[in-house]
Amino acid sequence: MHVAVIGSGYVGLVAGACLAETGNDVICVDKDATKITRLQRNEIPIYEPGLEPMVQRNQTEGRLTFTTDLGTAVRASKVVLIAVGTPPGEDGSADLQHVLAVAREIGRNMNEPKVVVTKSTVPVGTAEKVRAAVKSETETPFSVCSNPEFLKEGAAIDDFMKPDRVVIGVDNDDARAIMGELYAPFTRQGGNRVLFMDIASAEVTKYAANAMLATRISFMNQMATFCELVGADVNNVRLGIGSDQRIGRAFLYPGPGYGGSCFPKDVKAIIRTAEDLGLSLDVLKSVEDVNDRQKLVVLRKAQRFLGDDLTGKTIGIWGLAFKAETDDMREAPAIPLIEGLLDAGARVQAHDPKATDQARLIFGDRVMYAADPYSAAHGADALVVMTEWLVYRNPDFERLRKLLRRPLLLDGRNLYEPDRMAALGFEYHGIGRRSPM
Ligand SMILES: NC(=O)c1ccc[n+]([C@@H]2O[C@H](COP(=O)([O-])OP(=O)(O)OC[C@H]3O[C@@H](n4cnc5c(N)ncnc54)[C@H](O)[C@@H]3O)[C@@H](O)[C@H]2O)c1
Repeated sequence: MHVAVIGSGYVGLVAGACLAETGNDVICVDKDATKITRLQRNEIPIYEPGLEPMVQRNQTEGRLTFTTDLGTAVRASKVVLIAVGTPPGEDGSADLQHVLAVAREIGRNMNEPKVVVTKSTVPVGTAEKVRAAVKSETETPFSVCSNPEFLKEGAAIDDFMKPDRVVIGVDNDDARAIMGELYAPFTRQGGNRVLFMDIASAEVTKYAANAMLATRISFMNQMATFCELVGADVNNVRLGIGSDQRIGRAFLYPGPGYGGSCFPKDVKAIIRTAEDLGLSLDVLKSVEDVNDRQKLVVLRKAQRFLGDDLTGKTIGIWGLAFKAETDDMREAPAIPLIEGLLDAGARVQAHDPKATDQARLIFGDRVMYAADPYSAAHGADALVVMTEWLVYRNPDFERLRKLLRRPLLLDGRNLYEPDRMAALGFEYHGIGRRSPM
C-alpha cells in the first residue's frame, strides 16, 4: 500500500519505518528541512532503540523515502497519516493548528479518493474538524479515521510491531477494510487485536488511556508520601497490591513525578475539553496537582538534608531524560529539580547517557555535563537519581561513596535497597521507602 506520514517525529518516524518494514511504500514528510536532510542520510534525529537500522534498511531497499514536499507525498498515497505535534495551548487545550494546516494541504492535493488518518493525539471532535478542513479544499470523496498511537518512547518499535491493540475509529466499510489491511501484519498474533469503533470513542480512548496511567502514577506517589509518614515501605505495598490481578503490576512505581510529551499535556487537554462542556474532571485535576507537587519532592529532600540555602553545595544528578531509553526531556522532572537547585545557589553536575544535548538546549552552561556517571558524583554533597537508566542500577558503590563529599544518596526512582545502601555507608533516602533499621 502507498502511505504518506505527515510529521516525522517520535510517532511519525516510527510509524513510517514500521509500515515500510511490512512492505508498504512509505513517504515520510516533515516541514523541518534539516530533519529531512539528515533522515535522507540515514541520520536519526532522536534516540529510539532499533529505529536506526530499520530506517536504514527500508530506505536502502527503496520502501521508505523522506521529503518536505507534502503535496507530492499525498498525491502518491492511498492512506495519509497525520502525525504532527499537538502541543498544549495557553489554556491547556491541544493546539490543533499543525493538524488543521496539514488537513487543508491534504485537501489541496486530493487527486483521488484517500483515507485521511489522525494519528496525533487529538481531542474528541478533531476528526470532524479535519474532515471539514480537507473538504474545504476538494470535491474528491475521502474518508477520515482516528487511529491514536499508544507506543512508548524507548520501546516504540516493539510497541508498534507487536501492539497490545490497535484502535481505529471509522465510519464506513471501505476505510475499515483499508485500515484493517494496513494493520494486519502487526496483529496476526493472538491477543493483539484491531478494535474498530466509532470515531469519537477512538479519540476518547487515547486520552482515557493516558489519564488512567497518569492516575496510577499520582496515586502511587501519594501512597509513597503516606508510607513515609507512617513508617511503611511503599515497595512492599506496591508488591502487595500489584499481585492482585484486578490491579496488575504495571505503572505502580512511585518516582519524581510523570513527565514526557504525552501525560502532562494529555491530562491537561482532557480536563480542558470537559470544562468547555461544563464538566469538571476532579479526579484528573487532583492527578495533575499531585504531580506538580511530586516534581519538587526530591528538591525538598535535598534541602531538608543540606539546608534551604545551597550556596557552596554541589549536587550530582544521574539522569535527565523523563524516563530511561529516550533522549526526550519534554516536561522531565529533572527540569524543575535543576532550576530549583540553581535558584537555591547549588552547583549542578549531571550525567545522562542520551539526553545531554537536549539538556544543553534548556540549561546551557548553567550545568556541568559529566561524561560518565562517576564524574557527576565527584566532590558532590549529594547524588540524586532522576532516571532509571540501566547503567545506574548496579554501579561500583564503594567508588561512588569515596567520590562523594557527603555520601547522601537521594534515589528518586527507588533503584536501590535501603538496608544495603546503609551497610555500604550511604545516607540513603528513596521515595516512600522505609528508612534502614
Ligand atoms: N512521543 C510519544 O511517545 C507519543 C506517543 C503517542 C502519541 N503521541 C502523539 O503523536 C503526536 C506527535 O508526537 P511526537 O512526539 O511524534 O511529536 P514530535 O514533535 O516529535 O514530531 C512532530 C513532527 O511534526 C512536524 N510538523 C509539524 N507541523 C508540520 C507540518 N505542517 N507539516 C509537516 N510536518 C510538520 C514537526 O516538524 C515534527 O518533526 C502528538 O499528538 C503526540 O501527542 C506521541
